[in-house]
Amino acid sequence: MRDPLRFWIVVFMIGTSFSLEPSCPICSKYDFVEQLLERVIRNEFALKDALDKITATHSKVVDTLKKIDEKEMTLNESIKSLRISIEWAYLDEIMTLTR
Ligand SMILES: *[C@@H]1O[C@H](CO)[C@@H](O)[C@H](O)[C@H]1NC(C)=O
Repeated sequence: MRDPLRFWIVVFMIGTSFSLEPSCPICSKYDFVEQLLERVIRNEFALKDALDKITATHSKVVDTLKKIDEKEMTLNESIKSLRISIEWAYLDEIMTLTR
């Protein structure tokens, strides 16, 4: 993310250096570059903030998925033992009827 940004800044700086002399004073060119750099820095901070939030959300999602998986495993175990109970109840019923 950083490198393309730096590339475009360099391209911009070279472009402004070789372009025709602006009609306004030199200082305004520096003002513009300064503003641009400030904006770039602000964007970098915003990007870092967004990335931090994404990372935090990602770890929460991973955590939640792990918990869901554990609950599913518990549920599967419950279903399995319930099935066994039902099968035993059926067997018991059949034994009673055939007696
Ligand atoms: C729970 O059972 C379902 C259906 O049999 C199965 O697809 C799933 O993988 C099982 N999950 C776990 C965590 O064992």
